Amino acid sequence: MNRLDVALGERGYPILIGADLLAASGPGQDALSDLQLCAVPGGQPHRCLVVTDENVARHHLPALAGCLQRAPSELPTLVLPAGEQHKTLANFGRILDACAAAGLRRDDLLIALGGGVIGDLAGFAAASYMRGIDFLQIPTTLLAMVDSSVGGKTGLNLAAGKNLAGAFWQPRLVLADTATLTTLDRREYRAGLAEVVKYAAIGDPSLFEWLVANVAAINAADAGAVAWMVEQSCRHKAAIVARDEREHGDRALLNLGHTFGHALEAALDYQGLLHGEAVAIGMVQAARLSTQLGLASAADHDRLRTLLVDLGLPVDPPALPVERLEHHMALDKKASRSGLRFVLWRGIGEAFIATDVPAEAVREVLGAGPGALGPGPSQPNG
Ligand code: NAD
Ligand code: GLY
Repeated sequence: MNRLDVALGERGYPILIGADLLAASGPGQDALSDLQLCAVPGGQPHRCLVVTDENVARHHLPALAGCLQRAPSELPTLVLPAGEQHKTLANFGRILDACAAAGLRRDDLLIALGGGVIGDLAGFAAASYMRGIDFLQIPTTLLAMVDSSVGGKTGLNLAAGKNLAGAFWQPRLVLADTATLTTLDRREYRAGLAEVVKYAAIGDPSLFEWLVANVAAINAADAGAVAWMVEQSCRHKAAIVARDEREHGDRALLNLGHTFGHALEAALDYQGLLHGEAVAIGMVQAARLSTQLGLASAADHDRLRTLLVDLGLPVDPPALPVERLEHHMALDKKASRSGLRFVLWRGIGEAFIATDVPAEAVREVLGAGPGALGPGPSQPNG
């Protein structure tokens, strides 16, 4: 098992990464005792409520119950429907009601077992119930392991836009059991890869080269490759969050591709494209915008695009009215009164935040057809 720490003083916490951490025996022992410590602070019985979704409950709730030394039927659990379209105010309310029904008090605990949807919703409920209770993140998708479970952003979607309500609320522990990924759908796994590519694209050219060189192992979900990606991603995320917990600076770089991607998700009513897929398309659009503004080379756009294609991700947006996308972008949290803020780049590993990006340039990218930009064939990849 590997342990990383999010250095946030009294709000700091460990990220435990390893295979079979939720198994009742074997190499998961350390994680098991950490979990029990959280569930039973100071040796006092501690009430908890597990929030999960129907897919994750089927595959992984029994292991978590075993970890907490309870029978699954004795573990207070709220099982929500699965999927982004359920990251709603209504389900947030259901979690709060379930907290009350389970008799949770201020010193009790919520446990989020699932992907980013469950983590974001349960985290926001933890931030709100009795003005804030502790919660644990047990991510079960690649996307949640490499990104959403770490850093304390919680929230839900409103009809008007993605993640428009939420809070910063750090978990007490993140436990990433990479063995849970064996039950994850291939498409969901690939969607998580987009966020790994994001860390490489914003600031780690050597991770980018590693991804290019290891496409085959990544596509085969090789256990070693997966563990490496989770560790490297969590290392990047923990470092950025420790520097800028509330996104006053550097943390905004983690939104590369998200202004475009969130608009796509909202315009499609959170159905049709997975979050990671929207981010993949959005990153290519951000790279295209950077090239168009004369900030970066077409070759780097093409290398990013090729890597994402090789990882099985979509890179071209579905046909949608430009006006509808612009409408959603205007409500994006990254938009200021004076104009749109975008994460752009000067090339692989060199992202930066650009303010007052000309609307015409954005419109041109939104209306652009598919394809590479480079004059010749894009760079070869391994
Ligand atoms: P998700 O939570 O919808 O999970 C994807 C699907 O996989 C669901 O159908 C789920 O039931 C299923 N699933 C989860 N784990 C499984 C497993 N081990 N085996 C079988 N099926 C499993 O989606 P996601 O991609 O994990 O997360 C996307 C969400 O995360 C978006 O709402 C996005 O906005 C949010 N997000 C938040 C942050 C943050 O910092 N808080 C960062 C990135 C993304
Ligand atoms: N996923 C963006 C962030 O956590 O800031």
